[in-house]
Amino acid sequence: MIAIGSDHGGFELKKEVMAHLDARGLEYKDFGTYSDASCDYPVYGKAVAKAVASGECERGIIICGTGIGITNAVNKVPGARCALVRDMTSALYARRELNANIVGFGGKITGEFLMADIMLAFLEEPYEKTPEHDALIAKIDACNKADAEAQADPHFFDEFLEKWDRGEYHD
Ligand code: RB5
Repeated sequence: MIAIGSDHGGFELKKEVMAHLDARGLEYKDFGTYSDASCDYPVYGKAVAKAVASGECERGIIICGTGIGITNAVNKVPGARCALVRDMTSALYARRELNANIVGFGGKITGEFLMADIMLAFLEEPYEKTPEHDALIAKIDACNKADAEAQADPHFFDEFLEKWDRGEYHD
């Protein structure tokens, strides 16, 4: 099951994206908004993020005008890993290395066909599970824990700094 949501800025593109999902028989749940009336994107971003983080839905798709506002809101929800994407390479990277579970678009930036192709690739691409990727994702996930306990720790990034000192960073 796929969770989908948008604000009014992404509403038209969301309808087109849903038509592409329908054409492939992919199931989704639309968390709103349901018209082009002006609204606030965090409401819909949070609804999609919670559906994905709770396991109710496997993946999420979110769209606002630029994609910036709604992806920022989504990434504040623990368990949501959202990538704002405008090209195929970024979408594949987000799945393979970051195990992103939500893809975000700008409905006034990216056109229907490109958005549909990217979305379908995002839904199909597997996560390339490695100890390095798992460790990085665990650290990112810890950044938005509600209690912020981990971030208050002055040694939060020590392990990364030690890797830097050992010259272990690479692309
Ligand atoms: C809505 O007018 C617009 O601000 C919103 O969709 C988005 O572009 C924000 O990032």
